[in-house]
Amino acid sequence: MSRKVVLVTGAASGMGEAVARKYLELGDRVVGFSLEETAGIIHPNFTYVRGDITKLEDCERAAAAAAEKYGMLDTLVNCAGVVKEGNLETTDASAFQKVMQINAGGTFNICKASIPYLKKQPSSIVLIASDMGAKPLNDRIAYNPSKAAVIMLMKCIALDYAPMVRCNAVLPGIIDTPMIQNRLRQSDHPEELMKIYESLYPMGRIGKVEDIVNGVLFLNDDASAWITGIELPICGGPI
Ligand SMILES: NC(=O)c1ccc[n+]([C@@H]2O[C@H](COP(=O)([O-])OP(=O)(O)OC[C@H]3O[C@@H](n4cnc5c(N)ncnc54)[C@H](O)[C@@H]3O)[C@@H](O)[C@H]2O)c1
Repeated sequence: MSRKVVLVTGAASGMGEAVARKYLELGDRVVGFSLEETAGIIHPNFTYVRGDITKLEDCERAAAAAAEKYGMLDTLVNCAGVVKEGNLETTDASAFQKVMQINAGGTFNICKASIPYLKKQPSSIVLIASDMGAKPLNDRIAYNPSKAAVIMLMKCIALDYAPMVRCNAVLPGIIDTPMIQNRLRQSDHPEELMKIYESLYPMGRIGKVEDIVNGVLFLNDDASAWITGIELPICGGPI
């Protein structure tokens, strides 16, 4: 029996796609939202909305699609995001603003668009931040602060909307998704770069999307009914 109506951003790729597929497998109804033309998911309980998370009106279309198609919205998983490397000298101001606009502003937009629906019944939000939002990695002057902002947004939403809406964040370490595969492809020494990534984590490997899906499932489940406002690092070691 179908239980949840889940809005997943970034659903066309990586973690978002894996989260969307898992909820469909569990019998839930899913609205996927991303920049891509299509999500590549074909399922009777799946609706895709193409849009830009930096545009509030696009986020409103996605949240409204859940209510129109499935009668309500009680779960939001925000996976849309971008990564950017660079320091003060190699990151220009417009690149900094863009990363902040997508990762932090986009999180604000999708939560703002969804909250009128979420607060109608007990609901749950999971925001995908990053371990780098809590403990910065060098050469990420835009990315690290953008994910720190996501963590603080999560805490603000948790405070403002308890007890009806819970809000938590997953802080992934480096995860094997298209985002990281693209980064490896751009490198002149992909094997060395992979070794550097692996060495960051005491568990000796980078993460799999399943590691993140499991954390998202737990935080949206009744098993975590008294948990709100937390950062859950899923990064093969302590932050
Ligand atoms: N892969 C990693 O190592 C890693 C580590 C920590 C955190 N994260 C975070 O996890 C999230 C998912 O990453 P992933 O690795 O699955 O990436 P991905 O590149 O595979 O997928 C990102 C998705 O976000 C969507 N997106 C990007 N900009 C958008 C916009 N303006 N509007 C709407 N959708 C947009 C893309 O369309 C895509 O579907 C991101 O927020 C990322 O910052 C990733």
